[in-house]
Amino acid sequence: MTDNPPIAMLAELTHRCPLACPYCSNPLELARQDSELDTETWKRVFREAGEIGVLQLHISGGEPASRRDLIELVAAAREAGLYTNLITSGIGLTEKRLRALDDCGLDHIQLSLQGTDAEMADSIGGYRGGFARKMQVAGWIREIGFPLTLNAVLHRRNLHQLPRALEMALEMGARRIEVATVQFHGWAMKNRDALMPTQEQAREADRIVKQARADLKGTLVIDYVPADYHSDFPKRCMGGWGTTGLNVAPDGEVLPCHAAQTIPHLSFDNVRDRHLRDIWYDGAAFNAYRGADWMQEPCQSCDNKLKDFGGCRCQAMAVVGDAGATDPVCIKSPHHGALQAEADAFSHNDEADLIYRTAPGKPVPEIAE
Ligand code: FES
Repeated sequence: MTDNPPIAMLAELTHRCPLACPYCSNPLELARQDSELDTETWKRVFREAGEIGVLQLHISGGEPASRRDLIELVAAAREAGLYTNLITSGIGLTEKRLRALDDCGLDHIQLSLQGTDAEMADSIGGYRGGFARKMQVAGWIREIGFPLTLNAVLHRRNLHQLPRALEMALEMGARRIEVATVQFHGWAMKNRDALMPTQEQAREADRIVKQARADLKGTLVIDYVPADYHSDFPKRCMGGWGTTGLNVAPDGEVLPCHAAQTIPHLSFDNVRDRHLRDIWYDGAAFNAYRGADWMQEPCQSCDNKLKDFGGCRCQAMAVVGDAGATDPVCIKSPHHGALQAEADAFSHNDEADLIYRTAPGKPVPEIAE
């Protein structure tokens, strides 16, 4: 149980996306377009979010620009008193649409970066011409004056581009960059061998980020998600299950985190049937791993249990087969050694091909690696 409202809500407007990133964290089974919430239902959900105390709305997907009603939805979210952040690849945004988003009050844009040049970005995103388009969109974002966060997703194939990604954030006028080493959830699990950074790369990224934080203090904020398979302590995933945020999937299922549907014994409420307030406070999925009562050893007697909440439930499920187990990233987990050995083996598999994220009916990208 909790007495605290959520601070943030992620609205996954759609799972449709023009890109085919092999590290996509969306579930293996995507919500079909005909199951997506309609405009009026999303508007009601935003009102309910405002009523229960949500402050920030992260509008995501898939690619949220694939929704024709994006501008209407952003306007409704602003009316509901929410701070609106659009998380986008930029594909599908025109200058006209961006100006309309500005007119209706969009507060912030988070632009993803698949690579720092066309060769890398287009091959990772599986979308020819995507990088050039993104640079054009970045120019319009700057011209209009949206506050911008650049979201660079890094892995074995592009970690060497981190210094250039930092430069690009400055050139684009971004106030913040998220340096996110790929996390293995959903589709990304299929590509652990093709994308796992080496331990040396993970260490080098730590060093570059530390130096850049010192050099760019006051100019650029750097958020950093390290390569957790190579770490000894788990991440406090979602800030703790059911403590700060909730996700609404395209079909209206309300999830404690974006990968929660990979935990097979959980069942999820839907905004079509229940008010967001009831789902947050009383929903079975939200209460399944809230607090510390559910924890097993070694978490239960660990001094860090209310700091990291045992790490990521979905990672425990994916790697150990038990969502209630200690995240195997933790040095106290009996599976820690095996995970690190596995990470090392994945990171040296130079034969592994990328398996692109493809939806049913969508062709595999033609872009060769
Ligand atoms: Fe689900 Fe970490 S992604 S708890």
